[in-house]
Amino acid sequence: MIITIVGGGSTFTAGIVKSIALRRQELEVDEIRLFDIDKERQDKVGVLVDWILHEDLKCDIKLTVTTDVETAYTDASFIFAQMRVGKYAMREQDEKIPLRHGCVGQETCGAGGMAYGMRTIFPMIKVIDDAAKYARPDHWILNYSNPASIVSEACRRLRPDARIINICDMPIAIIDMVAAALGIKNKKEIVYDYFGLNHFGWFTSIEHNGKDIMNELRKYIMDNEILLPEAYLQANKAALPKDTNRHAKGSWYYVWKGVYEIMQNFPDTLPNTYLNYYLQQKEFVEHSDPTHTRANEVMESREKNLFEGIDRYIKTGEIDENIFYAGSHGDWIADLAIALKNDTKARFLVIVENRGALPNMPYDAMVEVPAYIGKNGPEVIAQKPIPLFQQGLMMQQLNCEKLLVEGCIEGSYQKVLEAFTLNKTIPSMKVAKEVLDDLIEANKEYWPELK
Ligand code: NAD
Ligand code: G6P
Ligand code: MN
Repeated sequence: MIITIVGGGSTFTAGIVKSIALRRQELEVDEIRLFDIDKERQDKVGVLVDWILHEDLKCDIKLTVTTDVETAYTDASFIFAQMRVGKYAMREQDEKIPLRHGCVGQETCGAGGMAYGMRTIFPMIKVIDDAAKYARPDHWILNYSNPASIVSEACRRLRPDARIINICDMPIAIIDMVAAALGIKNKKEIVYDYFGLNHFGWFTSIEHNGKDIMNELRKYIMDNEILLPEAYLQANKAALPKDTNRHAKGSWYYVWKGVYEIMQNFPDTLPNTYLNYYLQQKEFVEHSDPTHTRANEVMESREKNLFEGIDRYIKTGEIDENIFYAGSHGDWIADLAIALKNDTKARFLVIVENRGALPNMPYDAMVEVPAYIGKNGPEVIAQKPIPLFQQGLMMQQLNCEKLLVEGCIEGSYQKVLEAFTLNKTIPSMKVAKEVLDDLIEANKEYWPELK
C-alpha cells in the first residue's frame, strides 16, 4: 500500500507522516512517497521524515523522495494533496496587495483567496490527471490544498469523475478548542451538524455523548468573550499542547475573538472562524498591519523552526521534535484514509457537490457537510433547509467562486472582475478592478492570461 504526499516539502509533511506511521497497522502502509516541484525544500523535509520513520518510530515503511511524476504516482492507493502554489512568497502578496487597497488580505478569503485559487486550479487538475494515469484505479485523492472551495469547484467542473475528496481542518480545530474550553478529554465523543461552503459555514448542533452542549458553549464564549481557553491566551508564555498551538498564536487571536463578536449578534449557531473576514471585513483591515501579515508570522515561526531544525540535525545529528508540527491535522487525514480503506463509515465533514443535501442551495454547489465515509466515498447526511441569512451569504460567495472558476478556465477578465466585484470583502467595483489589476501583475508567472 503506497501513500503519495504531493507538496512533500510542506511544513505539515513531517506531522502527517508521523500520524500515518503511528496508524500503520490499520493503514497497512508499505511505502510513503514525497513528491514536490521544489527539490531542495523537499529533500530537507525528506531527511526529517526518514528520521521519523526509521530512527524515531523504527518502522519498516519504505520512503521515496522524488520530483518525478511517474515514480511518485505509480500504483499509489492514496494521494494526499497539499500544494501551496507560489509558496509563502505569493501568500504574502495575496495578503498584502488587497490590504494596500483597504480590503481583507487573507490566504483563502476575499481577493487573496481568489488569487491563490487562480494559481492552484491547473496544477490540481494535473495531479488528478497524473494520478489517473499512474496510480491504482481505485486510488483516492484527499485534497486539502487551498483554497479548497475554489479548487473543489474547479475539479468538479473539469474532472467530474475524479476520485477526489476535498477536506478542511478548520472545523476540527474549532472542535478541539470547544473540547479544551469545556474540559472534554476525548474529542471523539463530540458529534456535530454543520453546513456551509468551505471556510464559510456554521455549526448548528454540537453534542457530547448525546447531550446538547451548545448552550454551555454559548455561555462559555459570552462569559469569556472569546472561544480560546485561558491557558491558550497565555500562549506566548506557556508551552501549549502541540495540537493546538498553531491556531492559538499570533494573529489567530482575532479570529477566536471574532467568534465571540459574531455570536453576540447571531447567537443561534457557532460560526466558522473564517466568517470573520466576511462579517467583520472593515474591522479586520483596521487591526491588520499591511507590512506584516500571517504569511510573515508563519515564515518567522513554523517554516523557520522546521528548516533551521533540519539543518541543525544534518550538522550535529541532534533533533528536537518541537521543530515540526504534529497532531490533529495529520491524525485527521490518517483517520479519513483509514475510513476509506477499511470502510469504517466514520463521520467527517467533507466538501462535496450538494445534490440536495442542503435543499435550498443549488444542486451543483460545492458544499461542506457531514458524511459517513466508507470504501465507496462519502455518504452525505442531508440537512434541513438553511435560514435566509446564511443562504443569502452563501449564494453571494458561491456565485463569486463559480464566476472565478469560469473566468479562470475561459481566460475571461470580465468574469473574474465580476467575481471580485461580487465578493463581500471588496467594497466597490472600482476597488475590485484596482485590486484585480495589481494581482494580475503579481501573478504573471502563475495565472492563465485573462482577456
Ligand atoms: P508550504 O509552502 O510549506 O508547502 C507547500 C509545498 O507545495 C511546497 O514545498 C511547494 O514547493 C509545493 N508545491 C507548490 N506547487 C506545487 C506543485 N505544482 N506540485 C507539487 N508541489 C507543489 O505550505 P504549508 O503551509 O505547509 O501548506 C501546504 C498546503 O496545505 C497549503 O495549500 C495550505 O493552504 C494547505 N492546508 C490546508 C488545510 C486545510 O484545512 N484544507 C490545513 C492546513 C494546510
Ligand atoms: C486552517 C485552515 C487551513 C489553513 C490554515 C492556515 O487550518 O483550515 O485551510 O491553511 O488554517 O494556517 P496558518 O498557520 O498557515 O495560517
Ligand atoms: Mn481549511
